[in-house]
Amino acid sequence: MEREALVALAREAALKAQCAYSHFRVGAALIANGKVYVGVNIEISSYGLTLCAERSALASALSCGDTEITQIAVACLDAPPNALANERTPCGACRQWIADLAPHAMISIDGIDRDFTITDLLPYAFGLPTT
Ligand code: THU
Repeated sequence: MEREALVALAREAALKAQCAYSHFRVGAALIANGKVYVGVNIEISSYGLTLCAERSALASALSCGDTEITQIAVACLDAPPNALANERTPCGACRQWIADLAPHAMISIDGIDRDFTITDLLPYAFGLPTT
């Protein structure tokens, strides 16, 4: 899918964010086995249990058995137009999820012209020894 189309889906998903505490709406859209999955950030009264949009989308795809994730787009609707890159890009936990579960995905961020690999965002990501 075209980058801008997936980013648009992430923006649309963000409208459904459950963010009563931060009021910071985030949406993610990804392609897994050719299908689109979306996720939003979900906050509850115990703030530390917040689920980010990226992990929400990844969990949705994997729960449906679609594990080949080729593209991920993220949109922070409430980031100001002049927000810095680090005010729009996935948090550390989401980066580790992507490193483990979608290591080959192209990552597009609304408001940033270039795309990223997970190695760009999380060099030297942790991984368990393979043997
Ligand atoms: N958030 C995400 O959904 N993804 C990220 O990668 C960074 C932060 C959410 C969590 C919380 O609901 C809100 O943004 C403010 O931190």
